[in-house]
Amino acid sequence: MGRTELTVLVTGGTSGIGRAVAEALATKGCTVLATGRNPDRLELAERIPGVRYLRLDLADPAGPDSLAEELGDLGLLDSIDVLVNNAGESQSGPFEELPAEAIERLFRTNVFGPVRLSQLVLPGMRARRRGRIIMVGSMLASFPLAHRSSYSAAKAALRAFATAARQELSPFGVWVSTVEPGSIATGIGLRRTKYLEEGSPYTQDVTTMLEHLDANERGGIPAEKVAATIVDAIVAPRPREFYSVGSRAPLPFLLKRALPRELVSKIVAAQHGLKR
Ligand SMILES: NC(=O)c1ccc[n+]([C@@H]2O[C@H](COP(=O)([O-])OP(=O)(O)OC[C@H]3O[C@@H](n4cnc5c(N)ncnc54)[C@H](OP(=O)(O)O)[C@@H]3O)[C@@H](O)[C@H]2O)c1
Repeated sequence: MGRTELTVLVTGGTSGIGRAVAEALATKGCTVLATGRNPDRLELAERIPGVRYLRLDLADPAGPDSLAEELGDLGLLDSIDVLVNNAGESQSGPFEELPAEAIERLFRTNVFGPVRLSQLVLPGMRARRRGRIIMVGSMLASFPLAHRSSYSAAKAALRAFATAARQELSPFGVWVSTVEPGSIATGIGLRRTKYLEEGSPYTQDVTTMLEHLDANERGGIPAEKVAATIVDAIVAPRPREFYSVGSRAPLPFLLKRALPRELVSKIVAAQHGLKR
């Protein structure tokens, strides 16, 4: 797809990876629509010149439909060329202790919301026989980690939706790709939702894991590098099914192919201070 004539919708465009994607595409002359839960509260200095900010709360089951209605009113819904499903919640907690409502909110935010929003922009893309949908997953989907079960599972679900949908949509000129970032220094660790019961038998394990996770994130690559990968996927004539960036990718994926499954899980745990 040519670069400058694109209309792009980036969810979670107010910080981190989404903000970097919005900025990169606005700089290239794209029409960029970026979402946040409270865009009206963004300071002028936080706004990227030329980017239009819209409200979207993916934890609200009505969020994607409300956004689509607003886009329809603006005459933009059927002209979205690219959807970057980037917004997401990072959640941690022992599998045994994760509250049902936390898991449900996470799946609404990280899976059901992006899926619904994709469904709403697809008729326009299909009719014009051009479109790109990028799902921002996580390497934790490929390398699940203790006390990140809900997050790993949600990102794996999103990737499976994307991989199957790609096969349905590519005959219409619509390409769906998944981008799995590793550790990216966006400060997401500060916004992570954490669940741990008082006196939990998992306290030491969770504390150790989180210390390592946060340190890895702080030492991660900048959001702009992930944005560059996402832009590559957007402009490629035939985007790949899968991209990974950060945490020395693609090395972990090569090792995963070569090593026994349980050894890979042990290495992932060890990288987060956990002996298994
Ligand atoms: N950083 C990493 O190491 C890393 C690694 C792997 C994958 N990822 C994934 O990359 C994506 C972006 O992460 P990031 O590191 O850039 O995090 P971030 O800086 O915290 O950005 C998250 C974005 O999502 C939006 N958001 C959060 N909850 C939302 C909700 N309920 N409804 C709608 N929007 C919501 C936030 O906007 P508002 O707060 O303005 O609403 C913000 O713009 C996420 O999907 C994350 O899971 C990140």
